[in-house]
Amino acid sequence: MENVNLQIASLRDNPHLLNECHSLVRDCFNDLDLIHNQLDDTLTSNETLPQAYLLIKNGIVAAWVGLCVNDPIQTDVYTPIVGPLMVAESERNFGYGALLLYHARNEAGKLGFDKVYLTSSHIGYYERFGFREIDMTKYFNDNPTKVYVADVPKH
Ligand SMILES: CC(C)(COP(=O)(O)OP(=O)(O)OC[C@H]1O[C@@H](n2cnc3c(N)ncnc32)[C@H](O)[C@@H]1OP(=O)(O)O)[C@@H](O)C(=O)NCCC(=O)NCCS
Repeated sequence: MENVNLQIASLRDNPHLLNECHSLVRDCFNDLDLIHNQLDDTLTSNETLPQAYLLIKNGIVAAWVGLCVNDPIQTDVYTPIVGPLMVAESERNFGYGALLLYHARNEAGKLGFDKVYLTSSHIGYYERFGFREIDMTKYFNDNPTKVYVADVPKH
């Protein structure tokens, strides 16, 4: 059987993995400046947020999720936001997305938050992991999106 080494680590602790994270953005989102900027901010900001949590499989970034102050939506009442979430195409359906969602929630708890939010137009994915739909809003480009909330573990 193949030996698999899985680790979850923060980008701030592993800045050498920045380019691999950018590469996943290009593969999963067809490039999106906003996400590239969020990644760069993760390493340059003096604030607690944004953060990025990486799932490293056999030394390679297989997936990552962000935790940031706001999404580019037309309201700023929902904070912090879990996202974006991306898993390399060859690594999907192994539960890695779920694992990272759980990790981001847990880390948000350690940072003192009692809830996290996320926005998405995917139907039926986040609900499986305890996220509840609470609102509909729009991105700045006027595309509609749902807003979800989830409680985080107490620390
Ligand atoms: C969505 C995504 C993060 C899921 O990651 P993953 O690691 O494959 O997810 P998990 O293994 O935790 O969960 C897999 C399950 O979710 C389901 N699922 C995957 N994508 C889904 C979607 N878009 N909508 C609803 N269900 C979805 C799968 O069918 C699978 O179901 P099963 O367990 O019944 O077989 C991944 O497909 C991805 O990176 N997509 C491209 C980027 C993206 O769209 N990110 C989300 C932006 S909001």
